[in-house]
Amino acid sequence: MKAIKLDENIYWVGANIHTEDLFEGIWPIPHGVALNSYVVKGEKIALVELVKEWGNASQTLIRRLRSINLKLSDIDYLILNHLEPDHTGFTHLLKSINPDIEIVATEKGTALVDAFYGIKENVRAVKTGDTLDLGNGFVFKFVEIPNVHWPETMATYEMKSKILFSSDAFGSFGVHKGSIFEDETPQAYLPYWENEMLRYYANIVAMFSPMVLKAIDSLAGVDIKMIAPSHGLVWRGKPEVVINKYIRYANYNRDHAEPEICLIWGSMYGNTEVMVNAILKGIASEGVPVTVHRVPNEDVSFILADAYKSAGLVIGCPTYEYEMFPPMKYCLDLFKKKHLWYKKVLFFGSYGWSGGAQKDFDELSKSMKWDMLEPLTFRGHPTDEQFEKGVKLGTELAREVKKIPSKIKNEEYGMK
Ligand SMILES: Cc1cc2nc3c(=O)[nH]c(=O)nc-3n(C[C@H](O)[C@H](O)[C@H](O)COP(=O)(O)O)c2cc1C
Ligand SMILES: [Fe+2]
Ligand SMILES: [Fe+2]
Repeated sequence: MKAIKLDENIYWVGANIHTEDLFEGIWPIPHGVALNSYVVKGEKIALVELVKEWGNASQTLIRRLRSINLKLSDIDYLILNHLEPDHTGFTHLLKSINPDIEIVATEKGTALVDAFYGIKENVRAVKTGDTLDLGNGFVFKFVEIPNVHWPETMATYEMKSKILFSSDAFGSFGVHKGSIFEDETPQAYLPYWENEMLRYYANIVAMFSPMVLKAIDSLAGVDIKMIAPSHGLVWRGKPEVVINKYIRYANYNRDHAEPEICLIWGSMYGNTEVMVNAILKGIASEGVPVTVHRVPNEDVSFILADAYKSAGLVIGCPTYEYEMFPPMKYCLDLFKKKHLWYKKVLFFGSYGWSGGAQKDFDELSKSMKWDMLEPLTFRGHPTDEQFEKGVKLGTELAREVKKIPSKIKNEEYGMK
């Protein structure tokens, strides 16, 4: 359990954890998550971000500190960029071990230090532009990045090493596999990180996309050599790749999604289900990439990721007690919450007598800025004509999706 060096006197002392717990009590993390914490050793010693008591994370932190001859009681400053307990859960214990430690956060952050941990003493509020000199040439400069992810969030820039400790911004689900650095990550793991990063963004950050872009703007002109987020990889080789990736993600709910389709369906007795293939046949005829998910069998966390990046959505949903099939309603409610806006959308589904799912769907999706195709609802099992209509509508949707100009050029951001 060693600390990992980012630069002279700057180390990663975080923990890769696996837990049965759901992240934020809602999102599964089958590949675990990295709780990144960093130490900067000037004349004074600072910890940037902390861990929560998950899967021995605090023990791991202590062991890594020990590997560079540090104890919790040696820490002078605790920099809390973001007060969410995944990064701060250990604060209470740390403070009882080291009562002299000074906690640094934004003004809103200090209020949460008190609210969560009852700590009022030795707490310093900082704002954009404020600095903290650790000695030996290490100086932190703070930049508030509100709502990436909570209102109190800030990033901390160390001026000598040019490392940006970016908090949740540029983060990801998933544990490190052999290296904490992106430039040491084998090619074979890149799809793993792509998936976990997009899922993290869609689940946690998507709603705050305008603030992500604002934060990136406020960092323009800052000479960033390395990005050290609070989850996921440390971007040492090409930090611009993760910045561009986040710009791309932040544009997915601003009418710039990928020319792909995500089809989500639920069915009680198979009548809605049999239409799925007809629609897929139409989509396939246009060669548009498609992902398919069934509710409630698949966790909405994964569905959100595919739906978020796709310009086209297909929602297959039967009527259940005059409304939508409840698991679909839950899924779409989250789409609404996460601002999955500006999609081309096809709705279909079966009903038994008077229907109701479509009306419920129209109501729920009203504020989503969705461009709807003609819905395809049918009583009981679809007829041959209705199957043909399904193929036609699938084709039509795929054509619409293909028309979307990719406003974000790959070359522009140096990545897919
Ligand atoms: C619990 C339950 C509630 C239902 N409520 C309605 C309803 O309110 N209105 C309606 O038209 N059909 C209702 N139905 C009938 C279904 O919508 C119909 O059987 C449909 O074909 C189901 O599609 P599926 O086979 O894809 O599940 C209900 C069925 C079930 C099992
Ligand atoms: Fe967070
Ligand atoms: Fe976090």
